[in-house]
Amino acid sequence: MRYFSHYSLSFVLSVYNPRWGRRVCRVAKKKGRLEFLEMKKNGELVTWITAYDYPTAMFAETAGMDMILVGDSLGMIVLGYSGTIPVTMDDCIRHCQAVRRGAPNTFIMGDMPFGSYQISDEDAVKNAIRFFKEAEVDSVKLEGGVRVESRIKAIADAGVLVCGHIGLTPQSSGPMGGFKAQGLTPESARYVIEDALAVERAGAYAVLLEGIPPELTEFITKRLSIPVYSIGAGLPCDGQLIICGDMLGQFQAFTPKFVKKYANIAEITTKAFKDYIDDVRNKRFPGEEHVYRIRKGCEAEYAAMLKEYEKL
Ligand code: KIV
Repeated sequence: MRYFSHYSLSFVLSVYNPRWGRRVCRVAKKKGRLEFLEMKKNGELVTWITAYDYPTAMFAETAGMDMILVGDSLGMIVLGYSGTIPVTMDDCIRHCQAVRRGAPNTFIMGDMPFGSYQISDEDAVKNAIRFFKEAEVDSVKLEGGVRVESRIKAIADAGVLVCGHIGLTPQSSGPMGGFKAQGLTPESARYVIEDALAVERAGAYAVLLEGIPPELTEFITKRLSIPVYSIGAGLPCDGQLIICGDMLGQFQAFTPKFVKKYANIAEITTKAFKDYIDDVRNKRFPGEEHVYRIRKGCEAEYAAMLKEYEKL
């Protein structure tokens, strides 16, 4: 085994995964920083989605997704908080581990939760390294531009790939007065541009733009040499991110303007649960096909044994 590189080892494990008890063939080649740079040069768009659990990660990899973000949006999408602030490092690590198990051949990014990089550069590096060592992510992401420039630099200098996240930054939704689009005026756009330049200068390998107008997205994408991705920032960039709970119609509290719904899981799941309740109450489940039958040939002996116990 020591002759395999990290990537070929994960490829072999994904094909011969002992936990699945049989051979499965998942042969997608994992993309990394260099492939994403190449895609930017060739005008090929990166597809990116959030996932927080093993099955969703597995479906994303099977579908051919380029990247998965284990966002701190997990606080709202799967843990039921009203925002992302309560999410902890331990929450993020646990969910990144599940996603890594589900998508061994996909580039995975761990989202640094609020409190994991605000205190100091050292703290930021320590937490970024936790993602790397404990959850085998390929990179981390943190929110902010100019104000976190030294954090991004410290993490990148420690050898951890880091992605910036600017524009609408959910962890600052309190001070911003809610989940509000940014860069809508020249003055506000100037801040976003300064943040984008700071992120690149600090050594990030990519930047995510959230909730800004497409004109500003296009300007930043042309101005930066690193890949620029969008969530709610329009088409003219190097790839798109969407939150799985939004696009699948799982998250019910609200739907941001930039979300396209591709399914209605809430409706499908609720209907399945109602059908199950109805079947149980009306004795339609379990059916003949769902029960185990007494081994052929020992029915009489079985009945006699039960009779014996009736007498006790
Ligand atoms: O946590 C998350 O899913 C994110 C997206 C909103 C970009 O950071």
